[in-house]
Amino acid sequence: MSGISWSRSDFPEDFRFGTATSSYQIEGNAKGGCGPSHWDAFARDGGTLRGEDGSVACDHLNRWREDLDLVSQAGFDGYRFSVAWPRVQPAGSGQVNREGLDFYDALVDGLLARNVEPHLTLYHWDLPLPLAEKGGWTNRDTAKRFGDFTEIVMDRIGDRMASVATINEPWCVAWLSHFEGHHAPGLTDIGAAGKAMHNILLAHAHGLDAIRAHGDRPAGIVLNFEAALPARANDKSETAADLYDGIYNRWFLQALTTGTYPEAVLEGLESHLPQGWQDDMAKIARPIDWLGINYYTRSLVDRDDTLPWPHLKTSRGELERTATDWEIYPEGIHQFLTRIAEQTGDLPLHVTENGLATNERPDQSDDQRIRYLDQHGEQLLRAIADDVPLHSYFIWSLLDNFEWALGYDMRFGLTHVDFDTQARTPKASYGEVRDALSR
Ligand code: FCB
Repeated sequence: MSGISWSRSDFPEDFRFGTATSSYQIEGNAKGGCGPSHWDAFARDGGTLRGEDGSVACDHLNRWREDLDLVSQAGFDGYRFSVAWPRVQPAGSGQVNREGLDFYDALVDGLLARNVEPHLTLYHWDLPLPLAEKGGWTNRDTAKRFGDFTEIVMDRIGDRMASVATINEPWCVAWLSHFEGHHAPGLTDIGAAGKAMHNILLAHAHGLDAIRAHGDRPAGIVLNFEAALPARANDKSETAADLYDGIYNRWFLQALTTGTYPEAVLEGLESHLPQGWQDDMAKIARPIDWLGINYYTRSLVDRDDTLPWPHLKTSRGELERTATDWEIYPEGIHQFLTRIAEQTGDLPLHVTENGLATNERPDQSDDQRIRYLDQHGEQLLRAIADDVPLHSYFIWSLLDNFEWALGYDMRFGLTHVDFDTQARTPKASYGEVRDALSR
């Protein structure tokens, strides 16, 4: 087996390495005064594998010290985590749960004590259930409530953040959850999707206001990108791949950078956008300080006329696949970094998630992860050589955790978690990363 071939010293001196998690996936939301989120309801209604949910997850709420030791002992410079909105405001608005804020306050101090930079994400999908019951992201008011929540969090821990992101992966929040129905709230409704595609950006704008009002912490947003290739070499497939790319890869970035939505997507989606959406675009496009990029895989795209607009179906190609059946396509990360930098110029870019699920036995080496990280790291070096202003690389994830609709079967961690005993065991990849970061 060959290991990770790149080293920290191959990267610019101020380049940062980190690892990422999110609140609902690791904390255990049954404890500490946390309110219910729409993921609990989605799991209860059969949206997840075997009905699994985040009530216990990795019990990070109690084991966070050990988890932060794992971050620092690997030699990571930064840790990307999210704050659970229902833990801070169980009803989604109004009353604050002190215990929740105390937890994050201690976590942040724990990071600083270990010399690890805290990178905060405000919304990584755990919407308070009471807000979901009022329409969630289809309701414009949720965006406003998100601004209030951001203020509360910034007020308590904002001063110590190395960076702050408003929203994690708006495409998943809006499209995957309201059109494809794979994530909470599990809708397959173009009307709901259209509203969510816009309201989530409005939430970003309100969040940005609140971050700016609380000091000078670098503020950004995290978008996910997936390479979209035509399934066949004909015009129909090419147009389909372009439309997929428009919905997935251009909608949010174009709105944030130019205050417009892609024409090809508007053709089908405009009638479903909230009334008066145009009036929000200038606010949505206000400057940010950095952009986070999550990248995992590619899809082959074709048109399928039996499906409703956008008439798209995806498939897999010939490449090696991970446990989630995602193709390993390292060139994609280089392609996106160069393509995005053409639009964003000097704006600092950060890879805020990259990784894969491998489901070997705990006593086996996670060779595929090691290869994946090796290959993607090489592509980052290529991008840097091509003058992309890339400043950091965060690996998803520190721990095996609750992988949303796929429950606990899909193991994305550098560290194995035994969900019966909560024992943490660093995988072979953890050791490889630690070695790469020490050279
Ligand atoms: C991303 C999510 C993250 C995790 C990884 C595998 O889309 O941001 O929470 O589920 O995928």
